[in-house]
Amino acid sequence: MNVIHSTPLTEAVRVRGLTKSFGGARVLAGIDLTVPTGSLLALLGPNGSGKTTTVRILTTLLAPDGGSAIVGGHDVTREGVAVRRVIGLTAQQATVDGLLTGRENLELFAGLYHLGGRQARRRAAELLERFDLTAAANRLVSTYSGGMRRRLDLAASMISNPRILFLDEPTTGLDPRSRAELWSVIRELLASGTTILLTTQYLDEADHLADRVVVINGGRVVADDSPAALKRQVGSERLVMRLSLADDVPRAGAALADAHLDPDAREVTVAVQGPRHLRKTLDLLDHAGIGVEHVALRAPTLDDVFFELTAAAA
Ligand SMILES: Nc1ncnc2c1ncn2[C@@H]1O[C@H](COP(=O)(O)OP(=O)(O)O)[C@@H](O)[C@H]1O
Ligand SMILES: [Mg+2]
Repeated sequence: MNVIHSTPLTEAVRVRGLTKSFGGARVLAGIDLTVPTGSLLALLGPNGSGKTTTVRILTTLLAPDGGSAIVGGHDVTREGVAVRRVIGLTAQQATVDGLLTGRENLELFAGLYHLGGRQARRRAAELLERFDLTAAANRLVSTYSGGMRRRLDLAASMISNPRILFLDEPTTGLDPRSRAELWSVIRELLASGTTILLTTQYLDEADHLADRVVVINGGRVVADDSPAALKRQVGSERLVMRLSLADDVPRAGAALADAHLDPDAREVTVAVQGPRHLRKTLDLLDHAGIGVEHVALRAPTLDDVFFELTAAAA
């Protein structure tokens, strides 16, 4: 018997000092991240922060300028073929063909992985069942909802039963219900042992799915933590107050600690630390003679994360 790996591979993905520029523009300025085998890492960042660029490098579609990236124990630049053998990718742009049925799409992909006719049909049927698409299997994909399309994309990337799966913004543009359905599919994949690196612009998505969250901005990692720790740092709900007068915005900012000011929208936002703090905040403005036209509570967003992270650094 040949024992190839005497030790278990505990790191599915290991990235150190990864850099990439396009033309003169530096997109990745030295990214470090590690995805333990069997876990889900969320790569969180705003539009244009380099999430797709990172995924393309890790899936061997793009060469890095510098640094190292090991995926499934193999170097992405020197051992691309070995890397491709153990990964799956659901790209940001859909890869399935709208003019084919769901079943035809999966059989086509199975063919690309060199599965023979019968095997391809069996694998396609299995995946349709697993991703809850059996009832729609013989319909053209152009008639699918956004959520169904994403599930089919995901099914296509699971044809070869990859150990490591990359999902690039899998739920962007989906309605809340389709997002929730996709989340449960992703959780099942994780439970079955697949290691997942997922990119997202949504803080709540990272919170729901991830074991660990890496936040990137301006080509750098600005946070690498558990969702719980990140949430503690970011705080709970936001109280958004629209003032009657734009001129009052700076005064409100002076009266309240750590307020986020948006003079154009006449809005002042603070993280709420419970009902008493909420009442105190409104009382403070009232006593200062600052009129509040409208109040709302909302969940923290990615913008709030960056506000907190940069406030903490300052
Ligand atoms: N092939 C390319 N050529 C030139 N610029 C690119 C290319 N790919 C990405 N970029 C630029 O790199 C930056 C990061 O892009 P991307 O990785 O797609 O970000 P994200 O996926 O986080 O939205 C953007 O400013 C984008 O315009
Ligand atoms: Mg992207």
